[in-house]
Amino acid sequence: MTGDRLGIGVVGLGRWANWAHLPGWARDGRCRIVAVCDTDAGRAAEAAGRYGAVAVTDYRDLISRDDIDIVDVVTRDSEHFGINLAAIEAGKHVLSEKPVAHDHHDVRRVAELARAKGLKTKVGFTFRYSPAVRYLKDMISRGDLGTPFIYNAYEQNSQWLSPQVPLRNRERGGGGPIRVASLEGYGAPVIDIGHWLMESDLTSVVGVLRNFIPERLVAETGLMDRVNIDDADIFIGEFASGALCSVQSSFVTVGNYPGIEVRVYGSEGAAIARLVEEFGICETLKTAQPDDVEFREIEVPAEYYPPGGSPRESWRTLYYANLTANFASEVLGEIPGNEGSFTDGLWVQEVINAVEISHHERRWVSLPLDGEPLDAEPLDGERGN
Ligand SMILES: NC(=O)c1ccc[n+]([C@@H]2O[C@H](COP(=O)([O-])OP(=O)(O)OC[C@H]3O[C@@H](n4cnc5c(N)ncnc54)[C@H](O)[C@@H]3O)[C@@H](O)[C@H]2O)c1
Repeated sequence: MTGDRLGIGVVGLGRWANWAHLPGWARDGRCRIVAVCDTDAGRAAEAAGRYGAVAVTDYRDLISRDDIDIVDVVTRDSEHFGINLAAIEAGKHVLSEKPVAHDHHDVRRVAELARAKGLKTKVGFTFRYSPAVRYLKDMISRGDLGTPFIYNAYEQNSQWLSPQVPLRNRERGGGGPIRVASLEGYGAPVIDIGHWLMESDLTSVVGVLRNFIPERLVAETGLMDRVNIDDADIFIGEFASGALCSVQSSFVTVGNYPGIEVRVYGSEGAAIARLVEEFGICETLKTAQPDDVEFREIEVPAEYYPPGGSPRESWRTLYYANLTANFASEVLGEIPGNEGSFTDGLWVQEVINAVEISHHERRWVSLPLDGEPLDAEPLDGERGN
């Protein structure tokens, strides 16, 4: 703590850090951005100037500071694991952008190390922190929808519909077997929300990955190349509770950001949270009762918004302000438990890996993948339930 405020260190100062993370921390009076790090010295200096922080270019110089309580990792996907591991080894609470690591064995390793050290972790599952989704969670928990039967979800928009929009391909190789892309980037958030809302683990999945746009402009080379990635996918699954799940994700489908819709159908009612920026509104929540059948829009109570927030704000700052505030409350012990933790990230990564196996072997795949329970001794409130 610096004074009576949590010290925050942000690593990786690209687009997403500037759109969502840094504004979220800056909006919270309990937090102070102490240091910022980017391998690009100019980016580090620019953010440091804006937030009154120290600039560094080596994340180890940030992690080693005594005045930092939370390390926030917003680098490229391939960098997350190493920085997460180093930060947890140094005794810091960690917020990591997804994925915590590409392989679920690595996610398990950092999740277990954090638990052993009594540290809180959080994955950048942005959409769990949408006011509409959080209100829906409370409605389900208090029984408004009765027993949940079915969870339907999609995340899809047209971000890479044009092959001319550069895609970073370093980690994805050219040809060869199809590799996961949309499922990890776009499927992950709605897998997480389903797990959280339905309060049950998926026990089996079957799915298909598809590459609709074979050639793309590769950011690293500036050339068109064969890029065999999943730009669309669909899977279905069974929850331990007996409920059913369907998930569809794509970044080559016409529609606006963030492009999420989640639906829960229960014995007493149903609800649809639509997180698509349309006509200046970033989200809506609709519900229906068995007697009236029609879905009607309902108002999300003010307490689900960050200070000054509204559905007319950008979803990026709105949701992230809720996420960073929630993590600060957990680290300060103002609320119990640790929702959306690396353990939740582990579960999501296992589901992604299971769908990949299902696609390649064209069969149902059982979860958990190693036949082990994910969390033998859960901390109070962990796994986000
Ligand atoms: N949760 C969400 O909704 C959401 C949305 C967008 C992006 N993201 C994630 O956020 C992350 C960042 O995405 P972006 O679009 O901002 O990328 P970006 O390329 O714009 O920014 C990444 C930054 O990290 C810096 N960097 C790279 N390696 C570093 C290292 N070892 N140490 C310090 N800095 C380093 C780069 O110089 C760059 O400034 C990605 O993992 C992405 O998947 C999440």
